[in-house]
Amino acid sequence: MSAAIVEQLTAIVGSANVLTTGLDRYEVDWTRRYSGRALCVVRPANTSEVAAIVSWARRVGVALVPQGGNTGLVGGSVPRGGEVVVSLERLRHIGPVDALSRQVTVGAGVTIHDLHETARSAGLRYAVDFGARGSATVGGSVATNAGGINVVRYGMTRQQIVGVEAVLGTGEIVSHLQGLLKDNTGFDLASLLCGSEGTLGIVTAVRVRLVTEQPARVTALAGFDRVETAVEAMASLCRSLDTVDAAELMLDSGVELVEAAVGVSSPIPRAAAYLLVECSAHDDQSESLGTILESAPGLNDVAISVTPSQRDALWRLRDEHTPSINTLGPPLKYDVTVPIDRLAGFVSSIGRVVSDVAPSARTFVFGHAADGNMHVNVSGAVDRDDEVTEAVLRAVVAEGGSISAEHGIGVAKARWLHLNRSAVEIGAMRAIKAALDPDGIMNPGVLFAD
Ligand code: FAD
Ligand code: MLT
Ligand code: ZN
Repeated sequence: MSAAIVEQLTAIVGSANVLTTGLDRYEVDWTRRYSGRALCVVRPANTSEVAAIVSWARRVGVALVPQGGNTGLVGGSVPRGGEVVVSLERLRHIGPVDALSRQVTVGAGVTIHDLHETARSAGLRYAVDFGARGSATVGGSVATNAGGINVVRYGMTRQQIVGVEAVLGTGEIVSHLQGLLKDNTGFDLASLLCGSEGTLGIVTAVRVRLVTEQPARVTALAGFDRVETAVEAMASLCRSLDTVDAAELMLDSGVELVEAAVGVSSPIPRAAAYLLVECSAHDDQSESLGTILESAPGLNDVAISVTPSQRDALWRLRDEHTPSINTLGPPLKYDVTVPIDRLAGFVSSIGRVVSDVAPSARTFVFGHAADGNMHVNVSGAVDRDDEVTEAVLRAVVAEGGSISAEHGIGVAKARWLHLNRSAVEIGAMRAIKAALDPDGIMNPGVLFAD
Protein backbone atom coordinates (compact mmCIF):
# COMPACT_ATOMS: atom_id res chain seq x y z
CA MET A 1 0.00 0.00 0.00
CA SER A 2 1.89 3.11 -1.16
CA ALA A 3 2.36 6.05 1.18
CA ALA A 4 1.47 8.32 -1.73
CA ILE A 5 -2.03 6.80 -1.99
CA VAL A 6 -2.63 7.22 1.75
CA GLU A 7 -1.38 10.78 1.53
CA GLN A 8 -3.58 11.65 -1.45
CA LEU A 9 -6.71 10.12 0.16
CA THR A 10 -5.90 11.69 3.52
CA ALA A 11 -5.88 15.05 1.78
CA ILE A 12 -9.52 14.38 0.80
CA VAL A 13 -11.08 12.68 3.86
CA GLY A 14 -8.59 13.26 6.68
CA SER A 15 -6.27 10.64 8.23
CA ALA A 16 -8.95 9.20 10.56
CA ASN A 17 -10.97 8.17 7.51
CA VAL A 18 -8.31 6.30 5.56
CA LEU A 19 -8.13 2.79 7.04
CA THR A 20 -5.31 0.40 6.21
CA THR A 21 -5.52 -2.17 9.04
CA GLY A 22 -8.28 -4.15 10.77
CA LEU A 23 -10.32 -4.21 7.56
CA ASP A 24 -12.04 -7.59 8.07
CA ARG A 25 -15.54 -6.08 8.41
CA TYR A 26 -15.06 -4.30 5.09
CA GLU A 27 -13.25 -7.13 3.27
CA VAL A 28 -15.49 -10.13 4.10
CA ASP A 29 -19.15 -10.28 3.08
CA TRP A 30 -22.03 -11.09 5.42
CA THR A 31 -22.19 -14.79 4.42
CA ARG A 32 -18.36 -15.06 4.73
CA ARG A 33 -18.28 -16.68 1.30
CA TYR A 34 -16.76 -13.64 -0.50
CA SER A 35 -13.66 -11.70 0.55
CA GLY A 36 -10.67 -9.87 -0.90
CA ARG A 37 -7.81 -7.59 0.14
CA ALA A 38 -8.63 -3.88 -0.13
CA LEU A 39 -5.91 -1.38 -0.98
CA CYS A 40 -7.51 0.58 1.86
CA VAL A 41 -10.91 1.80 3.05
CA VAL A 42 -11.96 5.45 2.77
CA ARG A 43 -14.89 6.96 4.61
CA PRO A 44 -15.99 10.24 2.97
CA ALA A 45 -18.18 12.69 4.88
CA ASN A 46 -20.21 14.10 2.02
CA THR A 47 -20.93 14.11 -1.71
CA SER A 48 -18.08 16.43 -2.64
CA GLU A 49 -15.55 14.18 -0.87
CA VAL A 50 -17.02 11.20 -2.73
CA ALA A 51 -16.61 13.11 -6.00
CA ALA A 52 -13.01 13.95 -5.15
CA ILE A 53 -12.31 10.25 -4.45
CA VAL A 54 -13.82 9.12 -7.75
CA SER A 55 -11.86 11.76 -9.69
CA TRP A 56 -8.69 10.71 -7.83
CA ALA A 57 -9.38 7.03 -8.66
CA ARG A 58 -9.73 7.90 -12.34
CA ARG A 59 -6.43 9.80 -12.26
CA VAL A 60 -4.43 7.06 -10.56
CA GLY A 61 -6.29 4.12 -12.16
CA VAL A 62 -7.64 2.48 -8.97
CA ALA A 63 -10.93 0.55 -8.85
CA LEU A 64 -13.56 1.42 -6.23
CA VAL A 65 -16.04 -0.77 -4.32
CA PRO A 66 -18.87 1.31 -2.82
CA GLN A 67 -20.05 -0.17 0.46
CA GLY A 68 -23.00 0.54 2.75
CA GLY A 69 -23.84 -1.95 5.49
CA ASN A 70 -22.03 -4.86 3.79
CA THR A 71 -25.12 -7.06 4.11
CA GLY A 72 -25.30 -7.76 0.38
CA LEU A 73 -25.64 -11.45 -0.47
CA VAL A 74 -24.10 -11.68 -3.97
CA GLY A 75 -20.49 -10.74 -3.26
CA GLY A 76 -20.78 -7.23 -4.73
CA SER A 77 -19.93 -5.23 -1.62
CA VAL A 78 -16.42 -6.52 -0.87
CA PRO A 79 -13.15 -6.15 -2.78
CA ARG A 80 -11.94 -8.83 -5.13
CA GLY A 81 -8.37 -7.67 -4.60
CA GLY A 82 -6.65 -4.28 -4.80
CA GLU A 83 -9.66 -1.97 -4.88
CA VAL A 84 -10.32 0.93 -2.55
CA VAL A 85 -13.50 0.34 -0.54
CA VAL A 86 -15.54 3.54 -0.34
CA SER A 87 -17.61 3.18 2.81
CA LEU A 88 -20.68 5.43 2.85
CA GLU A 89 -21.21 4.80 6.57
CA ARG A 90 -20.60 8.47 7.49
CA LEU A 91 -23.32 9.84 5.17
CA ARG A 92 -25.98 9.66 7.87
CA HIS A 93 -27.77 12.97 7.36
CA ILE A 94 -31.55 12.70 7.92
CA GLY A 95 -33.61 15.61 6.62
CA PRO A 96 -36.89 16.84 8.00
CA VAL A 97 -39.93 14.74 7.02
CA ASP A 98 -42.07 16.75 4.60
CA ALA A 99 -45.53 15.97 6.00
CA LEU A 100 -47.31 17.55 3.03
CA SER A 101 -45.63 15.43 0.36
CA ARG A 102 -44.89 12.55 2.80
CA GLN A 103 -41.22 12.44 1.71
CA VAL A 104 -37.81 12.65 3.36
CA THR A 105 -34.22 12.98 2.08
CA VAL A 106 -31.54 10.91 3.80
CA GLY A 107 -27.84 10.22 3.36
CA ALA A 108 -26.79 6.97 1.74
CA GLY A 109 -25.32 5.67 4.99
CA VAL A 110 -28.59 5.87 6.94
CA THR A 111 -29.76 2.39 7.94
CA ILE A 112 -33.16 1.05 6.95
CA HIS A 113 -33.98 0.81 10.67
CA ASP A 114 -33.19 4.51 11.25
CA LEU A 115 -35.29 5.46 8.24
CA HIS A 116 -38.17 3.42 9.72
CA GLU A 117 -37.78 5.30 13.01
CA THR A 118 -37.69 8.65 11.21
CA ALA A 119 -40.91 7.83 9.36
CA ARG A 120 -42.58 6.46 12.50
CA SER A 121 -41.76 9.64 14.43
CA ALA A 122 -43.75 11.52 11.79
CA GLY A 123 -46.69 9.09 12.01
CA LEU A 124 -45.74 7.57 8.65
CA ARG A 125 -44.00 4.41 7.46
CA TYR A 126 -41.12 3.59 5.09
CA ALA A 127 -42.45 0.71 3.03
CA VAL A 128 -39.31 -1.36 2.37
CA ASP A 129 -38.44 -3.76 5.20
CA PHE A 130 -36.27 -6.85 5.51
CA GLY A 131 -34.24 -8.84 8.04
CA ALA A 132 -30.99 -6.86 7.64
CA ARG A 133 -32.75 -3.57 8.50
CA GLY A 134 -30.34 -2.88 11.37
CA SER A 135 -27.22 -2.72 9.17
CA ALA A 136 -28.38 -2.41 5.56
CA THR A 137 -28.22 1.19 4.34
CA VAL A 138 -30.55 3.24 2.18
CA GLY A 139 -27.74 3.69 -0.37
CA GLY A 140 -27.14 -0.05 -0.53
CA SER A 141 -30.86 -0.76 -0.83
CA VAL A 142 -31.03 1.64 -3.80
CA ALA A 143 -27.95 0.06 -5.37
CA THR A 144 -29.49 -3.42 -5.11
CA ASN A 145 -33.12 -2.33 -5.61
CA ALA A 146 -33.89 -4.21 -2.41
CA GLY A 147 -37.28 -5.89 -2.03
CA GLY A 148 -38.09 -7.48 1.33
CA ILE A 149 -41.36 -8.47 2.93
CA ASN A 150 -43.73 -5.68 1.83
CA VAL A 151 -43.25 -5.77 -1.95
CA VAL A 152 -46.68 -7.31 -2.52
CA ARG A 153 -48.30 -4.09 -1.27
CA TYR A 154 -45.75 -1.31 -1.81
CA GLY A 155 -43.26 -2.51 -4.44
CA MET A 156 -39.46 -2.61 -4.47
CA THR A 157 -37.04 0.15 -3.44
CA ARG A 158 -37.31 1.59 -6.94
CA GLN A 159 -40.97 2.41 -6.30
CA GLN A 160 -40.07 4.38 -3.16
CA ILE A 161 -37.43 6.66 -4.73
CA VAL A 162 -38.45 10.22 -5.69
CA GLY A 163 -34.95 11.67 -6.03
CA VAL A 164 -31.25 10.79 -5.90
CA GLU A 165 -27.89 12.52 -5.46
CA ALA A 166 -24.92 10.53 -6.72
CA VAL A 167 -21.38 10.72 -8.06
CA LEU A 168 -21.09 9.03 -11.44
CA GLY A 169 -18.08 6.97 -12.45
CA THR A 170 -16.91 10.09 -14.32
CA GLY A 171 -16.50 11.90 -10.98
CA GLU A 172 -19.41 14.25 -11.78
CA ILE A 173 -22.24 14.90 -9.33
CA VAL A 174 -25.89 14.48 -10.31
CA SER A 175 -28.42 15.82 -7.82
CA HIS A 176 -32.16 15.69 -8.36
CA LEU A 177 -33.85 15.73 -4.94
CA GLN A 178 -36.89 17.96 -5.48
CA GLY A 179 -39.23 14.98 -5.08
CA LEU A 180 -41.70 16.00 -7.78
CA LEU A 181 -44.03 13.04 -8.40
CA LYS A 182 -44.40 14.02 -12.04
CA ASP A 183 -41.07 14.98 -13.58
CA ASN A 184 -40.80 13.61 -17.11
CA THR A 185 -37.64 15.50 -18.07
CA GLY A 186 -35.58 12.91 -19.93
CA PHE A 187 -33.96 9.66 -18.83
CA ASP A 188 -34.72 8.62 -15.23
CA LEU A 189 -31.19 8.51 -13.75
CA ALA A 190 -32.50 7.57 -10.30
CA SER A 191 -34.15 4.51 -11.74
CA LEU A 192 -31.02 3.64 -13.71
CA LEU A 193 -28.78 3.93 -10.64
CA CYS A 194 -31.30 1.85 -8.67
CA GLY A 195 -30.20 -1.76 -9.06
CA SER A 196 -26.83 -0.80 -10.64
CA GLU A 197 -24.94 -2.36 -7.70
CA GLY A 198 -22.22 0.31 -7.57
CA THR A 199 -21.21 -0.24 -11.20
CA LEU A 200 -22.32 3.18 -12.54
CA GLY A 201 -21.68 5.51 -9.64
CA ILE A 202 -22.02 6.08 -5.90
CA VAL A 203 -25.39 7.10 -4.44
CA THR A 204 -24.83 9.71 -1.71
CA ALA A 205 -28.38 10.82 -0.86
CA VAL A 206 -31.90 9.60 -1.59
CA ARG A 207 -35.32 11.18 -1.34
CA VAL A 208 -38.01 8.59 -0.64
CA ARG A 209 -41.76 8.56 -0.37
CA LEU A 210 -43.35 7.48 2.91
CA VAL A 211 -46.71 5.74 3.26
CA THR A 212 -49.56 6.18 5.69
CA GLU A 213 -49.26 4.03 8.81
CA GLN A 214 -52.17 1.55 9.03
CA PRO A 215 -52.76 1.22 12.80
CA ALA A 216 -54.51 -2.17 12.92
CA ARG A 217 -51.87 -4.81 12.18
CA VAL A 218 -52.45 -8.58 12.39
CA THR A 219 -50.12 -11.48 11.67
CA ALA A 220 -51.07 -15.11 11.06
CA LEU A 221 -48.99 -18.27 10.90
CA ALA A 222 -50.84 -21.07 9.08
CA GLY A 223 -49.62 -24.66 8.63
CA PHE A 224 -50.54 -26.60 5.49
CA ASP A 225 -50.33 -30.23 4.38
CA ARG A 226 -48.56 -29.36 1.12
CA VAL A 227 -46.75 -26.45 -0.57
CA GLU A 228 -49.53 -26.40 -3.18
CA THR A 229 -52.27 -25.70 -0.62
CA ALA A 230 -50.15 -23.02 1.06
CA VAL A 231 -49.62 -21.25 -2.27
CA GLU A 232 -53.33 -21.53 -3.12
CA ALA A 233 -54.26 -20.01 0.27
CA MET A 234 -51.78 -17.17 -0.34
CA ALA A 235 -53.31 -16.46 -3.74
CA SER A 236 -56.83 -16.55 -2.32
CA LEU A 237 -55.86 -14.09 0.45
CA CYS A 238 -54.28 -11.67 -2.02
CA ARG A 239 -57.39 -11.90 -4.23
CA SER A 240 -59.79 -11.28 -1.35
CA LEU A 241 -57.93 -8.66 0.73
CA ASP A 242 -56.13 -5.50 -0.45
CA THR A 243 -54.66 -5.14 3.02
CA VAL A 244 -51.99 -7.85 2.72
CA ASP A 245 -48.59 -6.33 3.51
CA ALA A 246 -46.63 -9.59 3.49
CA ALA A 247 -47.11 -13.27 2.56
CA GLU A 248 -44.06 -15.42 3.27
CA LEU A 249 -43.61 -19.15 2.65
CA MET A 250 -41.54 -21.39 4.93
CA LEU A 251 -41.02 -25.15 4.88
CA ASP A 252 -40.73 -27.65 7.70
CA SER A 253 -36.96 -28.04 7.22
CA GLY A 254 -36.34 -24.31 7.63
CA VAL A 255 -38.63 -23.86 10.63
CA GLU A 256 -37.07 -26.91 12.31
CA LEU A 257 -33.55 -25.47 11.74
CA VAL A 258 -34.55 -22.07 13.15
CA GLU A 259 -36.18 -23.64 16.22
CA ALA A 260 -33.00 -25.60 16.92
CA ALA A 261 -30.58 -22.76 16.11
CA VAL A 262 -32.37 -19.94 17.92
CA GLY A 263 -34.42 -21.76 20.54
CA VAL A 264 -37.75 -20.32 19.43
CA SER A 265 -40.76 -22.52 18.73
CA SER A 266 -43.69 -22.37 16.39
CA PRO A 267 -47.05 -21.89 18.17
CA ILE A 268 -48.71 -24.39 15.80
CA PRO A 269 -47.91 -28.08 15.15
CA ARG A 270 -45.34 -29.13 12.53
CA ALA A 271 -46.53 -28.76 8.95
CA ALA A 272 -45.08 -29.44 5.51
CA ALA A 273 -45.47 -25.76 4.58
CA TYR A 274 -46.19 -22.56 6.51
CA LEU A 275 -47.69 -19.28 5.36
CA LEU A 276 -46.77 -16.18 7.40
CA VAL A 277 -49.18 -13.40 6.46
CA GLU A 278 -49.43 -9.85 7.75
CA CYS A 279 -52.30 -7.45 7.07
CA SER A 280 -52.66 -3.81 8.06
CA ALA A 281 -55.61 -1.42 7.78
CA HIS A 282 -57.49 1.18 9.76
CA ASP A 283 -59.83 -1.52 11.07
CA ASP A 284 -58.94 -4.93 12.52
CA GLN A 285 -58.45 -7.56 9.79
CA SER A 286 -58.27 -10.55 12.16
CA GLU A 287 -61.74 -11.81 11.36
CA SER A 288 -61.43 -11.62 7.56
CA LEU A 289 -57.95 -13.14 7.71
CA GLY A 290 -59.12 -15.96 10.00
CA THR A 291 -62.20 -16.71 7.93
CA ILE A 292 -60.24 -17.07 4.70
CA LEU A 293 -57.45 -19.15 6.25
CA GLU A 294 -59.77 -21.44 8.23
CA SER A 295 -61.67 -22.30 5.05
CA ALA A 296 -58.48 -22.91 3.04
CA PRO A 297 -58.07 -26.50 1.74
CA GLY A 298 -55.17 -28.36 3.36
CA LEU A 299 -55.01 -26.13 6.45
CA ASN A 300 -53.67 -27.94 9.53
CA ASP A 301 -53.71 -25.13 12.07
CA VAL A 302 -53.44 -21.35 12.33
CA ALA A 303 -52.26 -18.87 14.98
CA ILE A 304 -53.40 -15.25 14.68
CA SER A 305 -51.52 -12.53 16.60
CA VAL A 306 -52.30 -8.88 17.07
CA THR A 307 -50.00 -7.80 19.92
CA PRO A 308 -46.56 -6.54 18.81
CA SER A 309 -44.70 -9.14 20.92
CA GLN A 310 -46.77 -12.04 19.56
CA ARG A 311 -46.35 -10.78 16.00
CA ASP A 312 -42.60 -10.35 16.53
CA ALA A 313 -42.37 -13.96 17.76
CA LEU A 314 -43.96 -15.17 14.52
CA TRP A 315 -41.65 -13.01 12.41
CA ARG A 316 -38.57 -14.36 14.24
CA LEU A 317 -39.32 -17.80 12.76
CA ARG A 318 -38.97 -16.15 9.33
CA ASP A 319 -36.27 -13.53 9.97
CA GLU A 320 -33.95 -16.09 11.57
CA HIS A 321 -33.85 -18.32 8.47
CA THR A 322 -30.87 -16.54 6.91
CA PRO A 323 -28.68 -16.38 10.04
CA SER A 324 -29.61 -19.97 11.05
CA ILE A 325 -28.68 -21.40 7.64
CA ASN A 326 -25.38 -19.53 7.85
CA THR A 327 -24.52 -21.43 11.04
CA LEU A 328 -24.12 -24.52 8.81
CA GLY A 329 -21.36 -22.70 6.88
CA PRO A 330 -21.60 -20.21 4.00
CA PRO A 331 -24.43 -21.52 1.78
CA LEU A 332 -24.88 -21.17 -1.94
CA LYS A 333 -27.69 -18.60 -2.11
CA TYR A 334 -30.15 -18.36 -4.97
CA ASP A 335 -32.61 -15.49 -4.72
CA VAL A 336 -34.97 -16.22 -7.61
CA THR A 337 -38.43 -15.43 -8.95
CA VAL A 338 -40.75 -17.86 -10.69
CA PRO A 339 -44.26 -17.20 -12.06
CA ILE A 340 -46.81 -17.74 -9.27
CA ASP A 341 -48.51 -20.58 -11.18
CA ARG A 342 -45.16 -22.45 -11.27
CA LEU A 343 -44.21 -21.65 -7.66
CA ALA A 344 -45.48 -24.76 -5.87
CA GLY A 345 -44.00 -27.10 -8.46
CA PHE A 346 -40.65 -25.29 -8.32
CA VAL A 347 -40.49 -25.33 -4.51
CA SER A 348 -41.36 -29.04 -4.45
CA SER A 349 -38.81 -30.06 -7.08
CA ILE A 350 -35.76 -27.82 -6.61
CA GLY A 351 -34.37 -29.96 -3.77
CA ARG A 352 -34.11 -32.92 -6.15
CA VAL A 353 -32.45 -30.73 -8.82
CA VAL A 354 -29.76 -29.95 -6.24
CA SER A 355 -29.34 -33.47 -4.86
CA ASP A 356 -28.96 -34.86 -8.41
CA VAL A 357 -25.82 -32.71 -8.67
CA ALA A 358 -24.68 -32.66 -5.04
CA PRO A 359 -26.14 -35.69 -3.21
CA SER A 360 -24.84 -34.63 0.22
CA ALA A 361 -26.21 -31.09 0.05
CA ARG A 362 -29.13 -29.80 2.13
CA THR A 363 -31.53 -27.40 0.41
CA PHE A 364 -33.62 -24.84 2.28
CA VAL A 365 -36.38 -22.98 0.44
CA PHE A 366 -38.27 -20.00 1.87
CA GLY A 367 -39.22 -16.50 0.83
CA HIS A 368 -41.62 -13.90 -0.35
CA ALA A 369 -44.37 -16.13 -1.75
CA ALA A 370 -46.68 -13.34 -2.91
CA ASP A 371 -43.88 -12.04 -5.19
CA GLY A 372 -43.00 -15.52 -6.50
CA ASN A 373 -39.58 -14.82 -4.91
CA MET A 374 -38.00 -17.86 -3.32
CA HIS A 375 -34.66 -18.04 -1.51
CA VAL A 376 -33.00 -21.35 -2.31
CA ASN A 377 -30.13 -21.83 0.12
CA VAL A 378 -27.87 -24.85 -0.44
CA SER A 379 -25.62 -26.03 2.35
CA GLY A 380 -22.90 -28.66 2.10
CA ALA A 381 -22.53 -28.71 -1.71
CA VAL A 382 -18.86 -29.46 -1.28
CA ASP A 383 -16.83 -28.43 -4.38
CA ARG A 384 -19.91 -28.59 -6.61
CA ASP A 385 -20.68 -24.83 -6.50
CA ASP A 386 -20.74 -24.16 -10.24
CA GLU A 387 -22.61 -27.35 -11.05
CA VAL A 388 -25.28 -26.58 -8.45
CA THR A 389 -25.53 -22.96 -9.59
CA GLU A 390 -25.88 -24.01 -13.22
CA ALA A 391 -28.57 -26.58 -12.34
CA VAL A 392 -30.61 -24.29 -10.07
CA LEU A 393 -30.50 -21.20 -12.31
CA ARG A 394 -31.33 -23.23 -15.42
CA ALA A 395 -34.28 -24.79 -13.55
CA VAL A 396 -35.48 -21.25 -12.69
CA VAL A 397 -35.17 -20.03 -16.27
CA ALA A 398 -36.94 -23.18 -17.52
CA GLU A 399 -39.92 -22.09 -15.39
CA GLY A 400 -39.83 -18.63 -17.02
CA GLY A 401 -38.24 -17.10 -13.93
CA SER A 402 -35.49 -14.64 -12.99
CA ILE A 403 -32.07 -15.62 -11.61
CA SER A 404 -32.17 -12.60 -9.30
CA ALA A 405 -35.32 -11.31 -7.59
CA GLU A 406 -34.02 -8.71 -5.14
CA HIS A 407 -30.36 -9.27 -4.13
CA GLY A 408 -28.87 -8.31 -7.50
CA ILE A 409 -26.34 -10.18 -9.64
CA GLY A 410 -23.11 -9.20 -7.85
CA VAL A 411 -20.18 -11.44 -8.66
CA ALA A 412 -22.19 -14.52 -7.63
CA LYS A 413 -24.32 -14.70 -10.76
CA ALA A 414 -22.46 -12.52 -13.29
CA ARG A 415 -21.51 -15.60 -15.33
CA TRP A 416 -25.18 -16.56 -15.61
CA LEU A 417 -26.64 -13.14 -16.54
CA HIS A 418 -27.00 -14.37 -20.15
CA LEU A 419 -29.62 -16.88 -19.00
CA ASN A 420 -32.02 -13.97 -18.42
CA ARG A 421 -30.67 -11.20 -20.64
CA SER A 422 -30.06 -11.21 -24.39
CA ALA A 423 -26.74 -10.20 -25.95
CA VAL A 424 -28.41 -6.98 -27.13
CA GLU A 425 -29.61 -6.18 -23.60
CA ILE A 426 -26.20 -6.91 -22.09
CA GLY A 427 -24.63 -4.84 -24.85
CA ALA A 428 -26.91 -1.92 -24.01
CA MET A 429 -26.05 -2.21 -20.31
CA ARG A 430 -22.33 -2.28 -21.15
CA ALA A 431 -22.77 0.85 -23.33
CA ILE A 432 -24.41 2.67 -20.44
CA LYS A 433 -21.61 1.55 -18.13
CA ALA A 434 -18.99 2.76 -20.63
CA ALA A 435 -20.69 6.16 -20.72
CA LEU A 436 -21.05 6.64 -16.96
CA ASP A 437 -17.91 4.77 -15.87
CA PRO A 438 -15.56 5.31 -18.84
CA ASP A 439 -12.47 4.02 -17.02
CA GLY A 440 -14.25 0.95 -15.64
CA ILE A 441 -13.27 1.79 -12.06
CA MET A 442 -16.73 1.24 -10.55
CA ASN A 443 -17.00 -2.19 -8.93
CA PRO A 444 -15.40 -4.19 -11.77
CA GLY A 445 -16.52 -7.85 -11.82
CA VAL A 446 -19.98 -7.02 -10.49
CA LEU A 447 -22.94 -7.60 -12.84
CA PHE A 448 -20.64 -8.24 -15.83
CA ALA A 449 -18.33 -11.25 -15.71
CA ASP A 450 -15.04 -9.76 -16.88
P1 FAD B 1 -23.82 -3.40 0.75
O1 FAD B 1 -23.90 -4.85 1.07
O2 FAD B 1 -22.79 -2.58 1.41
O3 FAD B 1 -23.66 -3.24 -0.85
C1 FAD B 1 -24.54 -3.94 -1.70
C2 FAD B 1 -24.25 -3.53 -3.15
O4 FAD B 1 -24.57 -2.16 -3.34
C3 FAD B 1 -22.78 -3.66 -3.55
O5 FAD B 1 -22.68 -3.96 -4.91
C4 FAD B 1 -22.22 -2.27 -3.28
O6 FAD B 1 -21.11 -1.99 -4.07
C5 FAD B 1 -23.40 -1.40 -3.64
N1 FAD B 1 -23.53 -0.17 -2.86
C6 FAD B 1 -23.66 -0.06 -1.51
N2 FAD B 1 -23.85 1.23 -1.15
C7 FAD B 1 -23.83 1.95 -2.32
C8 FAD B 1 -23.99 3.33 -2.64
N3 FAD B 1 -24.21 4.23 -1.70
N4 FAD B 1 -23.92 3.71 -3.94
C9 FAD B 1 -23.71 2.78 -4.92
N5 FAD B 1 -23.55 1.45 -4.68
C10 FAD B 1 -23.63 1.06 -3.39
N6 FAD B 1 -32.24 -8.01 0.45
C11 FAD B 1 -33.49 -7.88 -0.07
O7 FAD B 1 -33.66 -7.25 -1.11
N7 FAD B 1 -34.58 -8.44 0.54
C12 FAD B 1 -34.48 -9.15 1.69
O8 FAD B 1 -35.46 -9.67 2.18
C13 FAD B 1 -33.19 -9.26 2.30
N8 FAD B 1 -33.05 -9.91 3.47
C14 FAD B 1 -31.80 -10.02 4.02
C15 FAD B 1 -31.67 -10.66 5.26
C16 FAD B 1 -30.41 -10.77 5.85
C17 FAD B 1 -30.28 -11.41 7.19
C18 FAD B 1 -29.26 -10.25 5.18
C19 FAD B 1 -27.90 -10.36 5.79
C20 FAD B 1 -29.40 -9.61 3.96
C21 FAD B 1 -30.66 -9.50 3.37
N9 FAD B 1 -30.83 -8.84 2.14
C22 FAD B 1 -32.08 -8.69 1.61
C23 FAD B 1 -29.65 -8.40 1.36
C24 FAD B 1 -29.09 -6.99 1.67
O9 FAD B 1 -29.44 -6.60 2.98
C25 FAD B 1 -29.62 -5.99 0.67
O10 FAD B 1 -29.10 -6.29 -0.60
C26 FAD B 1 -29.28 -4.54 1.03
O11 FAD B 1 -29.90 -3.67 0.10
C27 FAD B 1 -27.80 -4.27 1.04
O12 FAD B 1 -27.60 -3.00 1.68
P2 FAD B 1 -26.14 -2.64 2.24
O13 FAD B 1 -26.17 -1.23 2.69
O14 FAD B 1 -25.71 -3.67 3.22
O15 FAD B 1 -25.25 -2.73 0.93
C1 MLT C 1 -34.50 -12.96 3.25
O1 MLT C 1 -35.56 -12.65 2.67
O2 MLT C 1 -34.43 -13.37 4.42
C2 MLT C 1 -33.22 -12.92 2.45
O3 MLT C 1 -33.40 -12.13 1.29
C3 MLT C 1 -32.97 -14.34 2.09
C4 MLT C 1 -31.65 -14.93 2.02
O4 MLT C 1 -30.87 -14.72 2.93
O5 MLT C 1 -31.37 -15.70 1.11
ZN1 ZN D 1 -35.59 -11.80 0.78
